[in-house]
Amino acid sequence: MEDKRFYGRRKGKPIKESRQKLLDGLLPKVQITCPEEGSIDLKNSFGITPREVWLEIGFGGGEHVAEIAQKYPDIGIIGAEPFLNGVASLLAHLNGSHMKEAKTCDLSPDRVDNVRIWPDDIRILFPHFPDNSFERIFILYPDPWPKARHAERRFVNGRNIPELARLLTPRGAVYVATDVQDYADWAVEQMDISGLFRQVHPNTALPPPDWIPTRYEKKGLAAGRKPTYLIFEKKLKK
Ligand SMILES: C[S@@+](CC[C@H](N)C(=O)[O-])C[C@H]1O[C@@H](n2cnc3c(N)ncnc32)[C@H](O)[C@@H]1O
Repeated sequence: MEDKRFYGRRKGKPIKESRQKLLDGLLPKVQITCPEEGSIDLKNSFGITPREVWLEIGFGGGEHVAEIAQKYPDIGIIGAEPFLNGVASLLAHLNGSHMKEAKTCDLSPDRVDNVRIWPDDIRILFPHFPDNSFERIFILYPDPWPKARHAERRFVNGRNIPELARLLTPRGAVYVATDVQDYADWAVEQMDISGLFRQVHPNTALPPPDWIPTRYEKKGLAAGRKPTYLIFEKKLKK
């Protein structure tokens, strides 16, 4: 039977009052809801009409989502993260109160309403997204699950790859970054075995143009770890 358990953390340190306020007051405004049946209407899910929609799976503290959302105000971005402290952190970025107390439960006035948060396992939403939903899918520093007996828990696996292919537009790309060489090799191998993707960024040690490092990436670089940047495009059917 397919194992759909989530093995990561859902909670960490106690959440500060100011962030709890954002979870109570801002999250309901920017949370994407899972329909009981049928598909999510992505073009009408944001406060803007998005030119494209991008998905970030496992956004951690949300720094990357917050930054790309500001840099690309005409793109709709869905961020998924089951770790509640991470969700609260992204809300603080969107609210403009990351380094201070939240004064309101609104988006910061310098932001457009182009982020939607799924505070749970993205696999729950997968069946509700139509084919060709996303122009970019980011999987940045996924949990490495280093033990061989846990390898099947790695997100880039034979069950999720066909869904990634279904959800990606024909010209879209999946971005995977990791500083665990074993994970990079595994991801390339799994994508290859699937026959659905081809790797298009040959110099995997070089970040793609306009790359925005995540919190994990910055920590890893500071500790001397070397990132691998993988970009995959769909193999188009002839
Ligand atoms: C190692 S952290 C990296 C966080 C962030 N991307 C960064 O680079 O700073 C991996 C994150 O993926 C999240 N994650 C794991 N499986 C997931 C899933 N099925 N759906 C959504 N998020 C997931 C975890 O909760 C965790 O926060």
